[in-house]
Amino acid sequence: MKKSVLALGLVAVFLTSCGDKKKEEVKKEVETKVEAVKEEVKAEATDAVADNLELGKKLFTEKTCATCHNPDMKVIGPSIKEINKVYAEQNANMVKFLKGESPAIVDTDPGQVAIMKANLDGFVKDMTGDELAAITAYMRSVK
Ligand code: HEC
Repeated sequence: MKKSVLALGLVAVFLTSCGDKKKEEVKKEVETKVEAVKEEVKAEATDAVADNLELGKKLFTEKTCATCHNPDMKVIGPSIKEINKVYAEQNANMVKFLKGESPAIVDTDPGQVAIMKANLDGFVKDMTGDELAAITAYMRSVK
């Protein structure tokens, strides 16, 4: 946001300080500056996504999810890939499940559901929406 205001400011400055420069030249210069600002904004956005995945990965280990969920194979809970597959197929929302707002769809065996439910009631309920978004973004990034 700030960057685009800056870009507009630059445009204004260039337009008012035209002097004896040809209009075409000024236009080109402005366009180059705007492109540079755009690139910077894009790089920042990419960094933000990477930071979020890093946080999600960290939480996945710290909050013990990794103990029961391996990327490729079933340990106690289904593998991350299996969870991703079912959630993608059913276009379901993992954050909602973690908030206890939607039922289990990956493994519906009552014993298994109870194990995961104990986590939801035990500590997942204390996690923030941002933390849950980061953790599920990390899970979905496991391919
Ligand atoms: C003690 C083992 C254990 C831990 C720790 C654990 N899970 Fe699970 N999880 C399970 C089991 C078992 C299932 C299968 C039952 C089910 O699908 O609800 C499951 C299922 C899931 C599912 C699929 C739910 C569905 O729709 O069926 C998600 C998503 C999930 N876990 C995420 C997490 C996250 C995120 C954490 C860490 C905050 C975590 N789990 C911690 C055992 C665990």
